[in-house]
Amino acid sequence: MTQTWHDVATLDDFAASDAIAVDVGHRQIAIYLVHGAVFATDNHCTHGDARLCDGFLEGHEIECPHHQGRFDVRTGAATGAPATVALATYPARLENERVQLLID
Ligand code: FES
Repeated sequence: MTQTWHDVATLDDFAASDAIAVDVGHRQIAIYLVHGAVFATDNHCTHGDARLCDGFLEGHEIECPHHQGRFDVRTGAATGAPATVALATYPARLENERVQLLID
């Protein structure tokens, strides 16, 4: 399947939070703004029923709001218990203050 860059948000969408969620097709994706760069992962925690966009972002780590499991937003790797399963990640970029994701 062909992958295309999709506009999904703008920098203004991060005014209230450095972690937001967007719906793209059937997926809900969390986008994180870290030091002027954007990263994207699945929004649903791999440990339980929680939205990572509601978590606490510290550097490149997102802490789940439910049990405080942690993930590296660059790789999706689980970096803190009780999270053990990595998140899916998606290529993300900023183009003229628009956030774009490379997805099917
Ligand atoms: S639901 Fe996210 S760490 Fe448990």
